[in-house]
Amino acid sequence: MQKTRHVVIAALTLALILAVAAIAYSQKGDPKKGKRIYDAYCVPCHGETGAGDGTRGMIEQFDPMPRNHTEGKYMNKRPDDELFDVIKEGGKSRNFSHIMPPWKTIISDEEVWDVFSYVRSLAVPSYKPGMAEEKKGR
Ligand code: HEC
Repeated sequence: MQKTRHVVIAALTLALILAVAAIAYSQKGDPKKGKRIYDAYCVPCHGETGAGDGTRGMIEQFDPMPRNHTEGKYMNKRPDDELFDVIKEGGKSRNFSHIMPPWKTIISDEEVWDVFSYVRSLAVPSYKPGMAEEKKGR
């Protein structure tokens, strides 16, 4: 009997761990950690507030200019996987400009999700799950 009880407890513990992991995964990244990455790597082009007005963009007059991440009307329609790919693999991977660099050699996949979730938090009006068009490309 004792043994069965242990097996049940072990199974329940495992189920709990999986449930917690699933919730953590469904949130796709930690925006607080993402902000640190954004401030270090993205602000020079995308700007302090993400409005696409970073000093590098201004000086080098990129064409196209860095995306305005606060523009909810556009950003909220972009699917999660597209933003993930653009950040990880660079703009070219999704037919955007090569000026948007790939970050995969500098940050891990987990950190890509962190900075992704921070980018999502910048949109005005704010992003709500289900707003994005879940299709590939643009
Ligand atoms: C050298 C300048 C530069 C840096 C640094 C940069 N970006 Fe970009 N980014 C761009 C440009 C330019 C575009 C617009 C591409 C286009 O319109 O084709 C862009 C577009 C984007 C997009 C929009 C993709 C879409 O679906 O429209 C996201 C998201 C993004 N960048 C995230 C980031 C993140 C996160 C970082 C930091 C880890 C970063 N960028 C760093 C230049 C930059």
